[in-house]
Amino acid sequence: MPHADAGISKLAVIGAGKMGGTLIRALVDAAVIEPGQIIATSRHTETAGDGSRRLGVEVITDNRAGIRGADVVIVAVKPQVLAEVLDEIGGLLEPHQLLVSIVASATTAFIERQCAAPVPVVRSMPNTPSLVRAGMSVLCAGSHATRAHLNKAERVFGAVGRTLVLDEKHMDAVTALGASGPAFVYVVLESLAEGGVKVGLPRDIATELAAQTCLGAAKMVLETGEHPALLKDAVTTPAGCTIDGLLALEEGGLRVTLIKAVVEATLRAGQLLTK
Ligand SMILES: NC(=O)c1ccc[n+]([C@@H]2O[C@H](COP(=O)([O-])OP(=O)(O)OC[C@H]3O[C@@H](n4cnc5c(N)ncnc54)[C@H](OP(=O)(O)O)[C@@H]3O)[C@@H](O)[C@H]2O)c1
Repeated sequence: MPHADAGISKLAVIGAGKMGGTLIRALVDAAVIEPGQIIATSRHTETAGDGSRRLGVEVITDNRAGIRGADVVIVAVKPQVLAEVLDEIGGLLEPHQLLVSIVASATTAFIERQCAAPVPVVRSMPNTPSLVRAGMSVLCAGSHATRAHLNKAERVFGAVGRTLVLDEKHMDAVTALGASGPAFVYVVLESLAEGGVKVGLPRDIATELAAQTCLGAAKMVLETGEHPALLKDAVTTPAGCTIDGLLALEEGGLRVTLIKAVVEATLRAGQLLTK
């Protein structure tokens, strides 16, 4: 297994839920960090116990104790509880600690305001395929974060997939496309598989075919750098069967529906802190 040293001596993950837990498992699997160097927190004692067994790291319910001695603190709680968590830890964080937030909607300025010291803050929006090291994370820096802080955070998220650094104004769009995006793709993939079932394929075969086809098509876009429309044209033989399928997609409004899904999710992505 490759060793991708992120230069972290102690990592605290505040909120060991779906995404926090995914990151912990992926970072340990990628040998970025040893389980003994990680401490995580959750709200409830029962989920802490569960999390500890599931993730193989210490999970506690005391956020203040969790961040003690950590050089990197990843905050992965729901947006609605972020203010409460920052109330607890914001006064204790120190400028030598890097605070990485994966909380949707929460700007670096909002987070900085809750910290007593000029703590470097990096905001990151990862997605669940990080679990299989095919994640996509977009990062941006707060006002006290340097290039070195961004690099450190990029090494963490780079171990579990691709990373990009963008201006913070794009983060709601990134949340919709990158973080919600897998859900949209699962619907497409599930529907393709249903199509296979409709024309007689066993469900497991249809699902495998659909998944590998989505993976292959995505790899073609990333690795050839070709525009998706050109890659689509290359599949579409004149008077062949693909053009009939494409006609059905256009009639069903697939493009407009997917565009609207990203637009709607982007609008919502900016409003999650309060409700
Ligand atoms: N899910 C995704 O695909 C995804 C992708 C990118 C970013 N994110 C972001 O990741 C964050 C977490 O989302 P999620 O889907 O992982 O949610 P989740 O599964 O509900 O996890 C939230 C975690 O936070 C813990 N928690 C709640 N209150 C806490 C407190 N006061 N102190 C410490 N821990 C506390 C919960 O503990 P209990 O279980 O004990 O309540 C739980 O472990 C969100 O801000 C979301 O925007 C999610």
